[in-house]
Amino acid sequence: MKISVIGAGYVGLVTAACLAKLGNDVVLIDIDEDKLEAIHNNRVSPTYEEGLNELLSQVHIQVSTDYEKISPSDIIFICVGTPSDKSGSIFLEHITEATTQIAEALKRKLDYCVVAVKSTVAPGTTEEVVIPILATSGRKAGNDFGVCMCPEFLREGKAIHDFMNPARVIIGEYDSKSGDMLYKLYQSFNAPILRTNLRTAEMIKLASNAFLATKISFINEVGNICKQLGIDTYEVAKGMGFDERIGSKFLNAGIGFGGSCLPKDLKMLIAKAKETGYEPTILEGVLNLNEAQALKLVESLKKHVPLKDAVIGLLGLAFKPGTDDVRDSRAIKIVEVLLQEGAVVKAYDPLAVKNFGKLFPQIEYVTKEEVLNSDAILIVTEWEEFNHLHYKGKIVIDGRRVAKAREARIYEGVCW
Ligand code: UGA
Repeated sequence: MKISVIGAGYVGLVTAACLAKLGNDVVLIDIDEDKLEAIHNNRVSPTYEEGLNELLSQVHIQVSTDYEKISPSDIIFICVGTPSDKSGSIFLEHITEATTQIAEALKRKLDYCVVAVKSTVAPGTTEEVVIPILATSGRKAGNDFGVCMCPEFLREGKAIHDFMNPARVIIGEYDSKSGDMLYKLYQSFNAPILRTNLRTAEMIKLASNAFLATKISFINEVGNICKQLGIDTYEVAKGMGFDERIGSKFLNAGIGFGGSCLPKDLKMLIAKAKETGYEPTILEGVLNLNEAQALKLVESLKKHVPLKDAVIGLLGLAFKPGTDDVRDSRAIKIVEVLLQEGAVVKAYDPLAVKNFGKLFPQIEYVTKEEVLNSDAILIVTEWEEFNHLHYKGKIVIDGRRVAKAREARIYEGVCW
């Protein structure tokens, strides 16, 4: 099929590369020429994603800043970012800009195509924002073009695997003709396909991420109680996980969730609920517990080392292993507090130093061996390589349950 993907962020680029690999004719549109040049000429992804550079070297993707290039498309995916403010409300300007450009191109496009939103948006956005803008083309939804909302469930670092092996495909459709086009694209995937309306698809995405966030805050709360009672949270989670209704995944207690999705999507759902006049008490609790959880690491540290002028070493800065992404990383909050309390911070991460350095140029970035020479060590991200370090004689406060760190002279887990 002929596909256009608008937005060369990690969702857009992975979507474009995977669909090209599957034999589709793909055009990737972005406003950032340098980014497109790196993708096209050097076959290099702007952000680290496992296997993506290799995949880019195998496929042909046409790249352009010109929306006219979308005109032969059967499906146009909108994959632009939806940043949010502190209250959780999202800024839709990237969506509205992209949709306005698509509407312009639709004026000159004579054959039927489907515009499909992949960006994460609050329920109602496709109907209330995207469709009215597309209608400014003078063409009619349902007749001249179709509309779908097809959320993505890619994990950063595992995005290619998740794209190629989805647990489910959700097709929110304006009408069945729109949905049929997406169905044609996704029918060969070995996954259940749920066809539904636009706002339900938008809600499925938010509710899925909110549920994952809830699972994490839940086990962190259990962990905080377990620690008081001298019980091992991880054994408790293992015992719970045998029950299929509970499941063993996403029950790793620690310093909580970060990244560009879980916190943002949770806040988006809370904001949307409040807009309707509903107080989402569970979701608020999930968020509040998560905010406090990271700082528990520093509280534990203070029991062993006075922070003023102490050299504190951080192992891990990325929001999770396998990525260079530091957006909403728990490390940010932790470093802020350490600096406020007068500590000297040294940090190591195998991938995320460059990105973290933009936020905190004032701290020292060193090797992992140098981090081990600090007065105390905080484990913030569970990179596999941290399981091969020598912690004997050290003070380690662990936020992510790295087994080897238990050999330290003083070892304390955040909730175990
Ligand atoms: C998340 C979802 O898992 C994806 O399904 C979704 O598509 C994506 O958001 C998105 O909306 O784009 P991602 O942000 O890549 O994916 O990260 P996760 O693997 O979900 O991890 C999120 C955070 O939770 C990390 O900080 C991780 O350390 C933490 N976490 C995860 C825990 O603290 N405990 C766990 O048991 C699992």
